[in-house]
Amino acid sequence: MMTTVLVTGGAGYIGSHTCVELALAGYDLVVVDNLSNSWPETLDRVGELVGRPIQFHRLDLREHHDLLNLFASRRIDAVVHFAGFKAVGDSVRDPLSYYDNNVAGTVSLLKAMLRNDVARLIFSSSCTVHGLPRSVPVTEGEPRNPVNPYGCTKAMIERIIEDQVAATSGWRALLLRYFNPVGAHPSARIGEDPIGIPTNLMPYVMKVASGKYPYVHVFGDDYRTRDGTGVRDYIHVVDLAKGHVAALHALERVDGCQAINLGTGRGCSVLEVISEASKAVGFPIPYRIEGRRPGDIAEIYADASLAADVLGWQAEHDLTAMCRDHWNWQRKNPDGYRSSIST
Ligand code: NAD
Ligand code: UFG
Repeated sequence: MMTTVLVTGGAGYIGSHTCVELALAGYDLVVVDNLSNSWPETLDRVGELVGRPIQFHRLDLREHHDLLNLFASRRIDAVVHFAGFKAVGDSVRDPLSYYDNNVAGTVSLLKAMLRNDVARLIFSSSCTVHGLPRSVPVTEGEPRNPVNPYGCTKAMIERIIEDQVAATSGWRALLLRYFNPVGAHPSARIGEDPIGIPTNLMPYVMKVASGKYPYVHVFGDDYRTRDGTGVRDYIHVVDLAKGHVAALHALERVDGCQAINLGTGRGCSVLEVISEASKAVGFPIPYRIEGRRPGDIAEIYADASLAADVLGWQAEHDLTAMCRDHWNWQRKNPDGYRSSIST
């Protein structure tokens, strides 16, 4: 019998790419998403890519009774939990929405799992749980010390899941700490579709390349890094998605609850990203050096060795592939999923 996986937030950026890889790996999928930051069109395209429709329920995780009804209506073997808000700046402006959606949404999900004896969970965490790391590369043993409400929700949820796993025999969970996901599916059918002006580097760079904005604002060139600009561990979203397939397999071997970094183990600077993106698009992408962005850290990248040991997984794509696929998606879907909705 096929293993059935409930994917929360499966219509989103990382969730949709993970649905593709899980379906191709032979899992039966049930997606729940309230579409607060995504489009139903995405799952139609996922269905096209995998050759079968994806079962979808439009549902908010905090609507506990609806969630219970869903669990009661079908067998679920494991949960991959992406649903939540993710914008650092918004979380500073409106912390209650973040604690409510991310933390209360997760508690509602865990209660439904407990009630229905579903004891396998993969959770989307973030390297942001560390705040300012003491040293790089960052290992999973680095203390949790988040510096903004979004990061606090991720750290709290990690702790809640650890407590729940410790309290209930048979529960197993992996807390996957993503570094900086970028890129898109090589088919260019699914990709990141940020609402409004993108705040992350790669989507902004690609919007500049497409002519939507005049230049990239480089936030600081006076960090103690090799060229003075911020260094991050960019990871291709398809590699990240495959990390979830490896994690589901590993859940059968892992005891209890464990945090695992999903990164490449390599840091790239802002100027290196702009340079590689310029090669992908075929012309120099304009940029201007500006002041530092408040709250930014100089450098963070993963120690990716635990993922290799425990999951047998490592990232395969380099920055060239990340820029090529992100550009391909941007070029073919200039207004994201909206372009195809209106046609
Ligand atoms: P996304 O916004 O594209 O996807 C999240 C999905 O969850 C959306 O489709 C949204 O509609 C849905 N959702 C939100 N709240 C919900 C609720 N209460 N009930 C049901 N559905 C709900 O974001 P993403 O980039 O795909 O991120 C997925 C997860 O990975 C998030 O938990 C995010 O915090 C985490 N993460 C993302 C990054 C990143 O840079 N993208 C980095 C680290 C961790
Ligand atoms: N940057 C620019 N110009 C921009 C945007 C970003 O110079 O227009 C710089 C930043 O200063 C930083 C680097 O590019 O040095 C990366 O910035 P991003 O905003 O793309 O990514 P962050 O590392 O700041 O944060 C992202 C997500 C967080 C998540 C974290 C780790 O926004 O939610 O990655 O996964 F927690």
